Amino acid sequence: MRSVAVAVLSLAILGVLGGAIFIYSGLYNVAATDPHWNLTYWVLEKARVRSIKAHAAGITAPAGYDDQAQVERAVGHFAAHCAECHGTPGSKRGAVSQGMYPQPPDLTNVSKRFSPAEIFWILKNGIKMSGMSSMADDGDDMLWATVGFLQKLPTLSDDDYNDLWMASQAQGGGPGNMMDMGGMSMSHGPDGQRSPHAKSPTPRDRDQ
Ligand code: HEC
Repeated sequence: MRSVAVAVLSLAILGVLGGAIFIYSGLYNVAATDPHWNLTYWVLEKARVRSIKAHAAGITAPAGYDDQAQVERAVGHFAAHCAECHGTPGSKRGAVSQGMYPQPPDLTNVSKRFSPAEIFWILKNGIKMSGMSSMADDGDDMLWATVGFLQKLPTLSDDDYNDLWMASQAQGGGPGNMMDMGGMSMSHGPDGQRSPHAKSPTPRDRDQ
């Protein structure tokens, strides 16, 4: 019995030592171009999904968060804060986000993968070590509206998305208005220099 305990303890010490040597040797490759092993990916993905589901368990969606007016309000927010990484119905992800690992997923069917409360939790808290930041500063109200918008996303064509965006701008635009679109709303001025939007930008401008 005693020899079994000694063997188990020795193995545990060896394991810890081996881990320490592996970490300090720098053998582990942190490059974004070096994908995880299948097992590592499986563990991380399981932990991510289980964590989101557990942490969102007590959250209830407020009434009316997915009303059409809320969805319209959220489009400008999505165009300004999400589209560059996640793409839109008419455009793929931006160039920078294509080099990210993990890559920002297409959100078209995200409401099939997660409940409204879970999506809200993701938006409010972000996801560690992934590039998905917390959007808590945008306020719960806007985040719930964005959840409502994401639920409509599978039904939106490129044109529907642009119409919705125009409607949101007509109402004042919210955080996605032209001034707030930052680098995404830049267009080429007559002198060939990049200058702030010479014309009203639409999300479709990002295809160019
Ligand atoms: C800088 C790039 C970036 C921006 C901006 C960004 N995200 Fe993300 N997002 C990511 C990445 C990367 C992931 C993948 C995280 C992972 O797999 O661990 C992600 C994951 C998600 C997920 C989980 C999807 C799934 O299927 O697991 C949702 C929902 C989401 N983002 C919504 C949004 C919304 C809505 C916005 C804007 C308010 C936004 N994101 C802005 C990079 C971004």
